[in-house]
Amino acid sequence: MLNDLLARNQEWSKQRHAEESDYFTRLAALQAPEFFWIGCSDSRVPANVVAGLDPGEVFVHRNVANIVHSSDMNLLSALEFAVEALKVREIIVCGHYGCGGVKAATEDLPQSLADHWLEPIRRLARSYAVDLAQQPEIEARRDRLAELNVVEGVWRVCETPILQRAWRRGANLRVHGLIYGLKDGRLRDLDCSGGPGHFQKEVAE
Ligand code: CO
Repeated sequence: MLNDLLARNQEWSKQRHAEESDYFTRLAALQAPEFFWIGCSDSRVPANVVAGLDPGEVFVHRNVANIVHSSDMNLLSALEFAVEALKVREIIVCGHYGCGGVKAATEDLPQSLADHWLEPIRRLARSYAVDLAQQPEIEARRDRLAELNVVEGVWRVCETPILQRAWRRGANLRVHGLIYGLKDGRLRDLDCSGGPGHFQKEVAE
């Protein structure tokens, strides 16, 4: 299996070099992505592929069910680096329909570490119980919950001191919430974007 992977890599590297001879030297010299992507670890939702972007064009953080925990040092470190060092222009929180993490959060599971990780989704399910009950099918309820989890993630990113600081100094940085459909390969905008002024105004009030 591993040898297979290494052989595929050599083939890919050779092909890429043949298509564009300075491809690797160019990328090795500079990383200048416009996007920071917070997505699910699900193997079917690779950021570069579904967004049609090349290596070098998107800085990526993925975790189970694309949850934005406000104390996740891994996510916060990546976010800070993306904003402060890479100066990305757009931050995308991307969920997906048919998410196994969201499904697990709606089931009674034996105690596991994943229960702790998924707790924010359980909390969302309780907060939006009336909204979710409008969907008769369990699949539709989970998909709606996946959307709510993205919206919540966008708010949480906007509320981090990292974004507040960036907006206060005038950075033109926007945070968007998208959802990906495994069945049709489409990304949809959930219309919950935050941008400069959006959060500062709330603070001033
Ligand atoms: Co998922």
